[in-house]
Amino acid sequence: MQEKLTALLETARGELATAATPESVEQLRVKYLGKKGALSGILGGMGRLAPDERRALGEKANAAKAELETWLQEAAARGEAQALEAELNGPRLDVTLPGRRRAQGRRHPVSQTLEDICATFARLGFVVEQGPEIETDWYNFEALNMPADHPARDMQDTFYVDPTTVAGTGPVVLRTHTSGTQIRTMLRQKPPVRAVMPGRVYRKDSDQTHTPMFHQVEGLLVDEKVTFAELKGTLAAFATAFFGPATRTRFRPSFFPFTEPSAEVDVSCVFCRGAGCRVCKQTGWLEVLGSGMVHPNVFRHAGYDPAQVTGFAFGMGVERLAMLRYGIDDLRTMFENDYRFVAQF
Ligand code: DAH
Repeated sequence: MQEKLTALLETARGELATAATPESVEQLRVKYLGKKGALSGILGGMGRLAPDERRALGEKANAAKAELETWLQEAAARGEAQALEAELNGPRLDVTLPGRRRAQGRRHPVSQTLEDICATFARLGFVVEQGPEIETDWYNFEALNMPADHPARDMQDTFYVDPTTVAGTGPVVLRTHTSGTQIRTMLRQKPPVRAVMPGRVYRKDSDQTHTPMFHQVEGLLVDEKVTFAELKGTLAAFATAFFGPATRTRFRPSFFPFTEPSAEVDVSCVFCRGAGCRVCKQTGWLEVLGSGMVHPNVFRHAGYDPAQVTGFAFGMGVERLAMLRYGIDDLRTMFENDYRFVAQF
């Protein structure tokens, strides 16, 4: 047995001296020191020895085990050093190389403008309300003081979702403006109201300056004793906040069925500052929104008492405001979703 032990140490020394990788060192550890390894194999027969011999062999075996462990440690350290050396001499990672830029999306100019409009009115105390794009005739027309035979209905060419006339609500349409949301908002809450209502609207219209879908922001303020002066003050404040402090406003008498009196609001041309140019057709003014004092019939339809409250409303086209603000001259670029276009804003 002693000879076997000596022979085992001899071969192990040779093998461990050449082991170069952490894996081969581990294999040798299992081979010599594992549960079913060479050392256990030799010591397995110890039971048959006389006590003296057993003690002597036991000492030798312990010494052999310690020796094997030392060699294994040395071989492992050598393997690691070699692996490190190989890595240091291998292909290098150039940490100074610039990274690959990931293409980043941008907010569409219409979204930015919509958010800006709402944020500007939020600073004036307006909250945001939403209404459905698929709307009944009643909310879109009737409740806004535009009965079926009202000539003003010719002003808008309507997409019908379901032309069937249902008693009380009329046919189902794609809303032609956001004004119907005024009614929904008033029916939901008691006065006072101070809200802006953004959203998509649809009209059978398609040419250089019209698209079948576009965005509007509606506004509504209702309280006791609200006057036209407050309408003017609010919309002038919006104009300077949105187009810049040098912006002047002009209120022109107009007509909308849902307001009386009504006014269209112009701002001094953002391109020529009022001197006259191609965009403002030499007038110095740009029309930006419609407005007026809420018609008593609209209040009645919404369950408000026109003897108790007054208010003003307004509506504006978001694409138009975005085009004026960013100097975009072709409406269609807004809907092509070309990233190179969107990335400019
Ligand atoms: N609904 C109108 C349109 O689509 C815009 C408008 C004008 C809204 C006057 C209003 C308003 O609330 O008072 O052209």
